[in-house]
Amino acid sequence: MLNHIYNTALVTGATSGIGKAIVLALAGQGIQVFALGRNLDLLQEFDGIENVKAIQSDVRDYNQLKELFLSHEIDIVVNNAGVLTTRSEFQNINHSDIDAMLDINLKAPLHLTREALPAMIERGKGHVFFIGSSAGLTPHPNSTVYGASKAGISLFCDALRYDLVGHGIRVTEIVPGRVQTNLYHTAIEQNKVRSELYDEYESIMPEDIAELILTALRLPQAVDVSRFEVFPTSQVVGGSKIVKKQS
Ligand SMILES: NC(=O)c1ccc[n+]([C@@H]2O[C@H](COP(=O)([O-])OP(=O)(O)OC[C@H]3O[C@@H](n4cnc5c(N)ncnc54)[C@H](OP(=O)(O)O)[C@@H]3O)[C@@H](O)[C@H]2O)c1
Repeated sequence: MLNHIYNTALVTGATSGIGKAIVLALAGQGIQVFALGRNLDLLQEFDGIENVKAIQSDVRDYNQLKELFLSHEIDIVVNNAGVLTTRSEFQNINHSDIDAMLDINLKAPLHLTREALPAMIERGKGHVFFIGSSAGLTPHPNSTVYGASKAGISLFCDALRYDLVGHGIRVTEIVPGRVQTNLYHTAIEQNKVRSELYDEYESIMPEDIAELILTALRLPQAVDVSRFEVFPTSQVVGGSKIVKKQS
């Protein structure tokens, strides 16, 4: 079981993929989880699941989330919500895509963490997670803005650890390569996502990322995993090459 000094968690992007798997994994460990997402129909799938309370919100609306931190002690924050709205060369990208990726992937986690930290510092405990990406550590074609948003998260995590050192708060970035989720649904034609990315390749599954979160949480308080970099076994570190499944 988990270190019981943590009782509550907030997970963003809870309606799909990695976020949903993290919600279920934490709730399964007896943590009271606030599962934040935009899609009401998908949030309703949490109805009746023990220890999960769904909150309909956009991560960009941090004023609404401010209330949550004032009214509840949140021990764990998982900044997971993210978008890859398009894969295109930078010279062709729309301004609205630039804004969406920077606002959701980079600015929102910073604002949310800013709201979470004062109470964590007061209590002398807390664990803040960020889901980064291999695209933030190594350049990938057609990924300038997504990559910049995730590179920003990566450096932010390291710098944040300076500001928090001595306060008893852990900061962990998880940097995955290819995970089988809905992330690409707007960037690649919907009916091609499976065949192009997943059918012939082994991917990390969302539950594997959730397991890393539990692993970091289970470690003694004196131990902080600053970064997990994780790839499918068939993908190279950095992510630029992946080989097909052997038949
Ligand atoms: N899949 C991969 O290969 C991979 C690799 C490296 C890193 N990641 C990162 O992993 C994280 C999770 O993505 P995923 O792969 O699980 O993709 P996903 O299945 O598309 O899940 C993304 C989640 O974020 C939510 N979200 C997006 N914008 C939001 C907003 N403004 N407010 C609240 N929720 C919002 C989505 O909900 P809506 O339906 O409302 O948009 C969805 O629940 C992302 O940060 C992504 O960048 C993924």
